[in-house]
Amino acid sequence: MVTYIDANSAPMKNTGQIRLYGPEGFEGMRKASQLTARCLDELVSRVKPGVTTNELDAFVFEFGQDHGALPATLNYRGYTKSCCTSINHVVCHGIPNDKPLREGEVVNIDVTYVLDGWHGDSSRMYPVGEIKRAAERLLDITHRSLMLGIEAVKPGARTGAIGEAIQTYAESERCSVVRDFCGHGLGQLFHDAPNILHYGRAGEGPEMRPGMIFTIEPMINLGRPHVKVLSDGWTAVTRDRSLSAQYEHTIGVTETGCEIFTLSPAGLDRPGLPA
Ligand code: MF3
Ligand code: CO
Ligand code: CO
Repeated sequence: MVTYIDANSAPMKNTGQIRLYGPEGFEGMRKASQLTARCLDELVSRVKPGVTTNELDAFVFEFGQDHGALPATLNYRGYTKSCCTSINHVVCHGIPNDKPLREGEVVNIDVTYVLDGWHGDSSRMYPVGEIKRAAERLLDITHRSLMLGIEAVKPGARTGAIGEAIQTYAESERCSVVRDFCGHGLGQLFHDAPNILHYGRAGEGPEMRPGMIFTIEPMINLGRPHVKVLSDGWTAVTRDRSLSAQYEHTIGVTETGCEIFTLSPAGLDRPGLPA
């Protein structure tokens, strides 16, 4: 049985209980998440052919330093970078390196800043120069999947409603939903209860309550859903090497629906795609 706990009286570890945050928590999350969104905005003009993902990673670190924030991924479970950069058939957790980006690639950049103890976690897909129509279509479907998942968030419904909305739409477009990674509670912790599945049925999962804070971050493939993790222990790729895309927002459940903390202040939530 899932239980809920007032975040103010919860221990600073993942106990499996779902934390409910008050107005101070929501205010802290707004600030951390908007810093993450501004960083992702800044990256739009920086992603282009010839740029390396290590250069983008250095920008993410420095932008955080300039605004009093640290990347949550730095030294997280042995990870040593300030963001994840997942190119083409990389599903998630791609590690920045010194290889230049090439025209036609698509790269997900996933940033989590910790600001005053609050975690703002978001990612977007970035086209590198001109991309193929199939790639643009996958990006559009994946962003729509995320937004349909967000629309399913309201108090009283179960978290399975999010997964059902995403899966129903993605599969109706003949795409597949990755099962091996999920969204997660966050706030004072980076990865907390509950897990947010991007597939399933509306009757499954814990009930959503006002004050819950979590991410939705569907990974959608043009081919089959299966992934494998490379020998570096992080990089997850599609087994069939088909193209994969992901977008992520951090949201908070309100009395009437939800607040999206990581929306772009510049309207750049889907770089390179028509609004
Ligand atoms: N930001 C990722 C997420 O959405 C987690 C990255 S953990 C890392 O949950 F160690 F791979 F960076
Ligand atoms: Co996340
Ligand atoms: Co993330």
